[in-house]
Amino acid sequence: MEQTMRNAPAKVNLALDILGRRPDGYHEMRMVMQSISLGDLVEAEEQESGFLLDAGDLIPAGKKSLEQQAAEAFFAAIGRPMPGLCVHLTKRVPAYAGLGGGSGDVAALLRILRETYAPEMSTEELERIGLQVGSDMPFCIHGGTARAEGRGERLTDLPPLPDCCLVLCKPDFGIPTGELFAKVRPEAFTRRPDLAGMEQALAAGDLDGVVSRLCNVFEELLGPEHREVFVIEERLRDLGALNAVMSGSGPTVFGIFPGEDAAKQAVEVLKREYAQTFLAYPLKKFD
Ligand code: C5P
Repeated sequence: MEQTMRNAPAKVNLALDILGRRPDGYHEMRMVMQSISLGDLVEAEEQESGFLLDAGDLIPAGKKSLEQQAAEAFFAAIGRPMPGLCVHLTKRVPAYAGLGGGSGDVAALLRILRETYAPEMSTEELERIGLQVGSDMPFCIHGGTARAEGRGERLTDLPPLPDCCLVLCKPDFGIPTGELFAKVRPEAFTRRPDLAGMEQALAAGDLDGVVSRLCNVFEELLGPEHREVFVIEERLRDLGALNAVMSGSGPTVFGIFPGEDAAKQAVEVLKREYAQTFLAYPLKKFD
């Protein structure tokens, strides 16, 4: 394989609902996911032997990376021994931030591997391989605007989010996904997303209708130590966002702006306090 490079877009959750706990320990989800222009860069090339992931100090030592797990699953699926591989990540998306940054990298690697070793493989098959290493992986392979159900792997394309800008802002702490899921009592949520209403608004190209329905049930599980999430949401609205909400299991908050000028200005202002503030745009489904 020649050295191949791909963008690895992150995602946000426009809506996130948790319906219940499943016998397999995961939770039954219903979400509206959106891929965004903020992304990492993934490069891969063959090397003599072994699997090398070059990603700075982001990968916990002694643990097999998700990239390696996914590559092994890919070559097992096509019935071919895995060649030596070197994967280089240029990180831009904050890690452990609710933006699917890690899943996006693995999704980009799987697309590179398909392109090189199994171009005839369907995207659905690649999504099934991705699911073996993470629940967000199928959507990160799929892209665009989609409803995600089950663990997150049952995807239905939705009409694209109308033109808008997103401002993402990550406070300076992390929220471990597993810990937040462990606190879930679905029957105790007081405010659930109106997914049908959001899908109707998407179909009508009605940005106001979509943003008025941004909702993430994980917000109800945040403690006083996570107060800043709500502070940032308020700041984004004050700065001109139509609405703002936390993405995934957090802690990144995103605001949706109808125009670029106000969004860029909001980035300027928030960057003074939060180094991890980014401007992004919604992306259409990947081909
Ligand atoms: O699938 P993934 O490894 O990304 O999930 C991380 C953790 O989040 C799981 O170990 C599980 O605790 C929780 N999770 C869940 N239900 C889902 C997705 C994730 O409980 N649908």
